[in-house]
Amino acid sequence: MKNDVMILGIESTCDETSASLLRGGREIVTNVIYSQIEEHKKYHGVVPELASRAHAAKIATVIAEALQDNPIDYVAFASGPGLPGGLMVGRVAAETLANFKNVPILGVNHLEGHIFACNFEGNEVKDRLSFPLIALVVSGGHTELWYVKGYGDYKVLGRTRDDAAGEAFDKVAKLLGLAYPGGPQVSKQALSGKRDAIAFPRPLLPGTWDFSFSGIKTAVSYYLRDHQPVNVADVCASFESAMVETLVTKTLWAAKKYKVKHIAVGGGVAANALLREQMTAQAAAQGIEAHFVERKLSSDNAAMIALAAYKKLEYAEKTGRPVKPNINIDPNRKVQNWGR
Ligand code: KG4
Ligand code: ZN
Repeated sequence: MKNDVMILGIESTCDETSASLLRGGREIVTNVIYSQIEEHKKYHGVVPELASRAHAAKIATVIAEALQDNPIDYVAFASGPGLPGGLMVGRVAAETLANFKNVPILGVNHLEGHIFACNFEGNEVKDRLSFPLIALVVSGGHTELWYVKGYGDYKVLGRTRDDAAGEAFDKVAKLLGLAYPGGPQVSKQALSGKRDAIAFPRPLLPGTWDFSFSGIKTAVSYYLRDHQPVNVADVCASFESAMVETLVTKTLWAAKKYKVKHIAVGGGVAANALLREQMTAQAAAQGIEAHFVERKLSSDNAAMIALAAYKKLEYAEKTGRPVKPNINIDPNRKVQNWGR
């Protein structure tokens, strides 16, 4: 791979339409993000059909803005997991551009993007992650725990059985009449509440690495039904503590079991201040270093997709390990594909 390889990343899995140009795996040249929050706000959550339409409407402009007049060597797109409509828009855009520019196309896993985004410091890429590590991806659509041996080399240990962590924040915010997206609103309210005011459950599900957050959400809804008027700050603080304690405890259990000294936390919920504080402190107490994605790049963005593609290309080149393709794109096309 040449030193200043240019990768154009495309992200469209959920409610952000984004394209980004990454130079040499070291520097974000552009990272254009169109957020659909305004479209989804009044529904307190992402409406798939609206998301598909917004991606279709914005993708060309977003790519043009990110690309400008730059040459590119690869097109990388988030090939899953995500909402089907958005995935199709991203893939068609990526294939069209790759064909037009006559460069290879790489499908990458969106969640790998969230994990490897921990390497960004501002617009630069620093190798902050050391392997092996336990990765926690917490976003509006996903909550997963991974054992990661290297770039492109990982095992999914567990995932949520119902609501994703961010989704639980969004649903509780809706119950409380707070705006979407709910995570930042709940966090803000929690600052002036008592964390031990209400004993919401901590669903640790011992014996499995899975998560389940619908019970906490239901406990909040029963509490609201039975205790009007409520102290909103206390509900937010107690709910946030239950969520964070569950996430931190299980991640540290996994770190201990797999004997790793590093944890990486990515996804929109990684912006949560209590999670950052508790995970960092409790990990440090066990001699483990917790790496968080910077807040600015915690939500969906295409720079993380371009970086995941770069890291996997680099890893494949260094180790000589072939990267196994795993979604169907015409085999006669120049496609290397690493989506799940
Ligand atoms: O990664 P992301 O942008 O989208 C998905 O891939 O789903 O994550 C968005 C999610 C939303 O559910 C939002 O409420 C949550 O991240 N979030 C937070 C915070 N900031 C964003 N949750 C808790 N605390 C926060 N500070
Ligand atoms: Zn995401």
